[in-house]
Amino acid sequence: MRLKNKVAIVTGGGAGLGEAIATGFAAEGARVVIAEIDLARGASTASAIQKNGGDAVFVQTDVASEASVKAMVEGALERYGHLDILVNNAAILISHSDKRTDELSSEEWDRIINVNLRGYWLCAKYAIPPMRKQRAGNILFIGSRTGLRGFPGLAAYSASKGGALALMRSLAAEYARDGIRINAIVPGTMDTPMNAEEFSDPDARNRYIPGIPAGRLGIASDVAGMATFLATDEAGFCIGGLYFVDGGADLG
Ligand SMILES: NC(=O)c1ccc[n+]([C@@H]2O[C@H](COP(=O)([O-])OP(=O)(O)OC[C@H]3O[C@@H](n4cnc5c(N)ncnc54)[C@H](O)[C@@H]3O)[C@@H](O)[C@H]2O)c1
Repeated sequence: MRLKNKVAIVTGGGAGLGEAIATGFAAEGARVVIAEIDLARGASTASAIQKNGGDAVFVQTDVASEASVKAMVEGALERYGHLDILVNNAAILISHSDKRTDELSSEEWDRIINVNLRGYWLCAKYAIPPMRKQRAGNILFIGSRTGLRGFPGLAAYSASKGGALALMRSLAAEYARDGIRINAIVPGTMDTPMNAEEFSDPDARNRYIPGIPAGRLGIASDVAGMATFLATDEAGFCIGGLYFVDGGADLG
């Protein structure tokens, strides 16, 4: 059990990559707080972990709301007494609505930035003080290749993910001497609910495959092992890094 008695918050832990990371952490002995906006999804992940003998609690949370994030972190500390790991994972991609910039409304821009970038910052802001006190902590940012390369029609999402990676690097440098390690995982194209609409068309799904040397889309469990590794002391000298889990998609 590589994460025995560690307390971990996983935002967006009700589906996709967050669900797989939360489940993986629990299997390694962590106590997991599922900070998820969707009631049914959050409750389902927590109860699946509990049924397998793990320790998990669902706290309905909107990462874009400061009051909600503050209450969630305070609740985790009240329940478990300490906080060791934060996974900044919750994000939104609005297919067919994150349009070309001249057609994108400022409301949609604000919504995406508020969840994907401000949300990551808010969760870090409230998770860091208890980690500083114990002089140990671990924060993972789930990034995206859209934050590093240009993909048409995804300006707001890409800006949010690029901002998240810049924020990760800045915080990693800022808090390394406090014993807090901060890193990012950069997944490739993953078969998760985020892409369900896009991939409901088999032609659209197949268009992605040639660009992935592994010859397949990623699945949620592909990132869980990397997340667990980065959260353990085995990764003790890993600080401010980008860890690609993309089937080789970044080679091209
Ligand atoms: N799916 C991909 O292809 C892909 C690729 C690269 C990076 N990513 C990144 O991986 C992370 C997870 O993506 P996914 O594919 O698992 O997404 P998903 O949509 O399948 O799951 C995200 C979860 O976050 C929750 N959520 C949304 N808004 C929230 C909010 N305001 N507060 C709390 N929870 C909220 C959703 O309800 C959902 O359960 C995201 O950061 C995403 O940007 C995904």
